Amino acid sequence: MKLKFSVLAIACFTFVACEQPTTKEAAKSNKAQGENSFVDSVLASLSVEEKIGQMTQLTLDMLVVGPAYVAEEPHTIDPARMDTVFNQLHVGSILNCAGHSYSREKWLDFHRSIKQYTDSSRSEIPVLYGIDAIHGVTYTDESTLFPQQIALACSWDTAMAKRMGAITAYETRASGIRWNFSPVLDIARDPRWPRFWETFGEDVLLVSEMGESIIDGYQGDEIGDDHVAACLKHFLGYSQALSGKDRTQAWIPERQLREYFLPQFEQAIDAGAMTIMINSGEMNGIPVHVNKTILTDLLRTELGFEGLVVTDWEDIKYLVSRHKVAATYKDAIEMSINAGIDMSMVPVDYDFPVLLKELVDEGRISEDRLDLSVRRILQVKYDLGLFGHEVPTVEDYPDFASDAHKATALEAAKESLVLLRNEDVLPLSRNQKLLIAGPNADDLNALNGGWTRTWQGDDASLNTPGKFGVFGQLQQEGVAVELWAGNANGLSSKAKGKDAVVLVVGEKPYTETPGDIESLDLPKDQLDLIEAAGELNTPVILIVVEGRPRTFNLPDQVDAVMLAMLPGDFGAEAISAVLFGEHNPSGRLPFTYPRYASSHATYDHKHTDLISPTFGTDAFNPLFQFGAGLSYSEYEYSNLTLSSDTLSLDDELELKVTVSNVSEISGKETVQVYVTDLVATITPSVKRLRAFQKVEIEGGENVELTFTISMSDLAFVNESLDWETEPGEFNVQINNQTASFWIK
Ligand code: BGC
Repeated sequence: MKLKFSVLAIACFTFVACEQPTTKEAAKSNKAQGENSFVDSVLASLSVEEKIGQMTQLTLDMLVVGPAYVAEEPHTIDPARMDTVFNQLHVGSILNCAGHSYSREKWLDFHRSIKQYTDSSRSEIPVLYGIDAIHGVTYTDESTLFPQQIALACSWDTAMAKRMGAITAYETRASGIRWNFSPVLDIARDPRWPRFWETFGEDVLLVSEMGESIIDGYQGDEIGDDHVAACLKHFLGYSQALSGKDRTQAWIPERQLREYFLPQFEQAIDAGAMTIMINSGEMNGIPVHVNKTILTDLLRTELGFEGLVVTDWEDIKYLVSRHKVAATYKDAIEMSINAGIDMSMVPVDYDFPVLLKELVDEGRISEDRLDLSVRRILQVKYDLGLFGHEVPTVEDYPDFASDAHKATALEAAKESLVLLRNEDVLPLSRNQKLLIAGPNADDLNALNGGWTRTWQGDDASLNTPGKFGVFGQLQQEGVAVELWAGNANGLSSKAKGKDAVVLVVGEKPYTETPGDIESLDLPKDQLDLIEAAGELNTPVILIVVEGRPRTFNLPDQVDAVMLAMLPGDFGAEAISAVLFGEHNPSGRLPFTYPRYASSHATYDHKHTDLISPTFGTDAFNPLFQFGAGLSYSEYEYSNLTLSSDTLSLDDELELKVTVSNVSEISGKETVQVYVTDLVATITPSVKRLRAFQKVEIEGGENVELTFTISMSDLAFVNESLDWETEPGEFNVQINNQTASFWIK
């Protein structure tokens, strides 16, 4: 058997080398996977135990010396564990690091050790290694760290999302890894949620477009040496917990689920995304990991996804310990596999494969059911070129953290900054004397957020050498800046003699449950600092570095507000460039910034959300609007014209608008097209974003932009759960330009 398989592997390698399919073809080939004779023949050669091993994913903790979660330093391969994992359990997938980032050399050593075991196993099937490279390959020392997804969304720049995806993929491959647990396609409509910042914001169109672009970057047109498989997460309905807290119950009616939560996944699947991770939470009383309607009927039958479905962390076990829908781990395995899971991110026990084998022996899970999943897993390994692969050397990826990669990350960070107020104070001049204060004034970890070198992103000893927080960066640049680490009381005396005060507030890094909060308000000491800053006679620039829009009272006397969100390693350089006018800000909010902790509605709210206690229509009163953002340039809009004011349901509408940069400063403007359906059988939103385009306009230049909107783009999910565009009157709004049209 061994010999026979080796011949097969060599034959395959030749095939892979000359006929590696493109990603989109790979998606199609996934659909036609039954016809892939190589995958079929590998599958046919496997024992039940080997098949089960392919469905098992463990964390690197399970391969190194020391207990899980507290591996012994320095992390080293434990041969006894390797023997258990690969020779006895035939495990097919490994994920993550054992707690913190490694050098590339160390990563490649790990992969070589793993490969030695899989190469000498009976089946010789390579391991599929997965990692959360969510803003660059974050678990590899000194990799290029980009803005987090929410900051990237502030750029509204889909081309940048693709570039970031491509560089991340390259550096992930340089670390010997071919599977990236990214992007997050959950929609962020509740600012309390601790993973708000891992998303592309609150709007379906923006999330879908940014999502498809970053996947394009990860997977390329064709999976080559520089690409990785994307993993869409977390399917489905993760972001809308009733409590606002991580992994707590969500109630999402199917109509809303289909209109706001599903389209971005559907678009990404159509774009060829190769894998999907499941939502750890429960929706409408059913944990998604056992929901066959979602995992099989919706995902497989309706959306036609035939790639790999992986659980989230320990989620089969949580069906017993947290969700209480299964009495035993074994029952939970039966329920989730039969619901549609292909691979279990176990990831810290050896019981899963043992119990799954018992379930097969007892006839509770059929071997045909295993085959379905294992074929999908082998197909992904095949499409990624893993069969017959070599572990790369450091020299194979000379552009890892290259100047060009860093320049792109800096550009992305600059584009992510959103200027929300500027009362003639910015840009500053480089010879002004500054005071910088606030808890994030000198904190690189705060700029990077969670999933940076460690899960929670809070270990400063692992930060990229030569990167700084805002104060450190300004010092490097020779700015006359003093750091004040004290509280509100001392601020006014410290500000004396300074030309301006820069106050940097916000959040420290977090993700998942450790990021749950009890109030959306910023902590009291920060609220006090902002109030105290509002009383100064010196100009004040407020910079907010955070993962979700935390609420605060914004005094009128604060002269400028810059929202930096989580711009990554290059955030401080980007902030400095905006402060001193060397970069013209162009970021726009991808979410609505609430004014009060207990009052939030998204921009696409309903008309009833407008009714105030005095029966006025001004109840929607956010601090900053979705889509808002200032520039050092000034733009004017004119000449909105429509190709027709009467259309039929299958028509397309062409819109033209002129945007003029009436200043002398070149800049980038994000043109946003909103449409309002005036009357509909499902209560219409006050407006919906239906198109957008980011465009560079020279000082004094006019550009005419054209947008094409199909009438089907204006559809909503109706009572029968079908997408429908209803005839009637519609308004279009582009900045201050408005027009109407009818669908007859
Ligand atoms: C997170 C996922 C992540 C996985 C692997 C989970 O806790 O919810 O987003 O991909 O861990 O690290």
